[in-house]
Amino acid sequence: METGKARMTVATQHRELPAEIISAAFARALAAAEAYRGATSPNPPVGCVVLDGQGWELAVAAHQRAGEAHAEAKALSICAATGTLDRAHTLLVTLEPCNHTGRTPPCCDAILASPVRVVWIGSPDPNPAVRGGGARRLREAGLSVRWMAEREPGLAAAAAGLLAPFAKRVRHGVPWVTVKQALDEAGSMIPLAGQKTFTSPSSLRLAHQLRKRADAILTGSGTVLADMPEFTVRHVEDHTGKVRDLFILDRRRRVPPAYLSLAQRRGFRPQVVASVDDALTAAAANGALEMLVEAGPAVTAHVLSNGLWDEHIIIRKNAGGPATDSVERRLRAKPPQPALESA
Ligand SMILES: NC(=O)c1ccc[n+]([C@@H]2O[C@H](COP(=O)([O-])OP(=O)(O)OC[C@H]3O[C@@H](n4cnc5c(N)ncnc54)[C@H](OP(=O)(O)O)[C@@H]3O)[C@@H](O)[C@H]2O)c1
Repeated sequence: METGKARMTVATQHRELPAEIISAAFARALAAAEAYRGATSPNPPVGCVVLDGQGWELAVAAHQRAGEAHAEAKALSICAATGTLDRAHTLLVTLEPCNHTGRTPPCCDAILASPVRVVWIGSPDPNPAVRGGGARRLREAGLSVRWMAEREPGLAAAAAGLLAPFAKRVRHGVPWVTVKQALDEAGSMIPLAGQKTFTSPSSLRLAHQLRKRADAILTGSGTVLADMPEFTVRHVEDHTGKVRDLFILDRRRRVPPAYLSLAQRRGFRPQVVASVDDALTAAAANGALEMLVEAGPAVTAHVLSNGLWDEHIIIRKNAGGPATDSVERRLRAKPPQPALESA
């Protein structure tokens, strides 16, 4: 028979921390994941925070690169390294912990081997083959497993947004496509003669952030011939050692081979492709989660009018100086909401 003391211990172990502590910690897990967006393919970016029973943060970690530890295993190993593992109580993670052995052992094992008793999850695993597996296993082992969607839908939506490129790759076999389009005051994409851009420094930074999270870039021969763009990440710090695909639509083969060699020296895998579909297939074969379209009006119109995009970022230069660009972000479709495994 369970003693009063044992009952109290179990109740304390499963005790939920206040909502504001959970939300703030989950936001930190999201930020940790976001910092590695673009570095983790073919895996998704994932962030994790471990709290003690009073809500003090013991560890924050992110999955940083394929083949390296997953966020949960990394956060728990930080707890072990700092001597705080025995205090670990609540674990928050942006994606459902895996329950299968890939290049690393299942994260469920690491969680079950720790004192963690409460797990908050942002997004269910989008892979239909494993959906509910991790959450169910933890729940069956006696842990309290909670979905952020039931507590704070805004944070769950942010986790789903972060995961959307991986979810698309898993469900449709092709990467997420973001179109970046800069427009001047008159609605034109073409810079003045002798210039490569007309947007503000903050828009340029945004453009380089979009490149940073991309595994592949798609452009057209018109842009290459007009601007000889480098396509490197310069206005923000890039992921160390990142190599991106650079796909160029160029049916007439006008792009000089020297441009392709230079692109290779800049850290790209450059390739002339016959269609957007070919670029998507080749990018997926290299494990890409995200492809950024940085092209002129011809290719941009083709991608947008044929529904080949997922996210469209429009940077509008407003009349009145370089500091006043406005940025509009639209999604082609609302991300699907996978069913949550019920408590
Ligand atoms: N504001 C911005 O955001 C932005 C961004 C990039 C570039 N630009 C500017 O855009 C200008 C270049 O414009 P652009 O329209 O010539 O460049 P583009 O769209 O980058 O390239 C157009 C070329 O792509 C090739 N292409 C292959 N498949 C295509 C398809 N399905 N649909 C359309 N084109 C296809 C075509 O050449 P083939 O027929 O030989 O295949 C076509 O001439 C430059 O002045 C550049 O500075 C602006």
